[in-house]
Amino acid sequence: MRKAIFVLSLVFTAAFALTGCKKEAEVSSDEIVVGHFASITGPTATFGQSADAGIRLAVEEINAAGGVNGKKITIITEDDQSKTEDATKAVQKLINRDKVVALLGEVASSRSKAGGPIAQQNKIPMITPASTNEEVTKIGDYIFRICFIDPFQGEALAQFAFKTLSAKRAAILLDSKQDYSVGLADKFRETFRANGGSIVSEQAYTSGDKDFRAALTSIRSSNPDVIFIPGYYNEVSLIVRQARELGLNVPLLGGDGWDSPELTKGAETEFNGTYFSNHLSTEDPDPVVQDFMKKYRAKYKSEPDAMAALGYDAALILADAMKRAGGTESQKLRDAIAATKDFNGVTGKISINADRNAQKPLTILQIVDGKYRFAQRIGADGAPLTEFKPITSDTPKK
Ligand code: PHE
Repeated sequence: MRKAIFVLSLVFTAAFALTGCKKEAEVSSDEIVVGHFASITGPTATFGQSADAGIRLAVEEINAAGGVNGKKITIITEDDQSKTEDATKAVQKLINRDKVVALLGEVASSRSKAGGPIAQQNKIPMITPASTNEEVTKIGDYIFRICFIDPFQGEALAQFAFKTLSAKRAAILLDSKQDYSVGLADKFRETFRANGGSIVSEQAYTSGDKDFRAALTSIRSSNPDVIFIPGYYNEVSLIVRQARELGLNVPLLGGDGWDSPELTKGAETEFNGTYFSNHLSTEDPDPVVQDFMKKYRAKYKSEPDAMAALGYDAALILADAMKRAGGTESQKLRDAIAATKDFNGVTGKISINADRNAQKPLTILQIVDGKYRFAQRIGADGAPLTEFKPITSDTPKK
């Protein structure tokens, strides 16, 4: 189904290529064209595919309910193939060729940072559903996000490691090519040390690496109580297998970049004893979450991940802002997005603050036999909202 959507958008794109540029006059006056730049293919393809699926589910609902001020929304998805350089090109195409009035995307922070400046220069409001690096929204006043930021996430994870898991010695294995990973590691390191803990080893890899044994062996010799791995699912999937192979049975910890249906495939046992922070727990009994899950399953015959929920929320917030702005005029739309207050999203209550970020709670998940189980909820102020209840069958085998 996701493939079908993408093929459709490819056909769509090809049609534009054949007919040349789509001039403004050709945009029918009863449609609103929104661009989505995303990693539909490449190493982090599940990010883009899930976000796109969530966005399209939301748009289908908006259009079925009459659209925005009587106009239907059309989403044009541009694949950046998980490449930072291509994110810039994707945004250029969406703005110049497709004349989009707003942008959704990207997921990965480095790619939002590559595409964002083009949106800002053209004054096209952009909402990233999921880029958590602090710098992203600093690009300018047209760039927004509806997710929490890494200083909050990194701090919550360090507190969880130190206070909840009682770790005193932490090792870090980060992806030096991703702003997301570097930023998350920075805050984790700072908070863990401020608590009185020590960082006993710090190692780096770059996106695309496949063999992490040398770094892990070095980490093993530093005898850590916990290893923090702020990476994306494709590398983390290999890192966790290799860590367990090398006899590293301590708890492993990560951020939202772990979230993908691909993460634990074929390594369900190795992932026992791991935790990561995320934007929602699909076990959350909140009717807003469960209603979304039901609709998503019905449309796609698969389980949504956090990215899908964030895509869904981002599209609904954009449509809501268009309604409040009375249209899509750039400055008015920007102002309306900035004024978003207490939007009841699947990923929590969303208000856009003065820095164009969203302050929201976070959920820590424990991976048990390949399933992402609810472990703890942390409030937007960093204080735990629930008690940590570990799922005991999950203790790593010694
Ligand atoms: N937060 C990650 C980033 O900024 C992206 C991400 C979000 C990945 C949510 C998975 C789930 O790069």
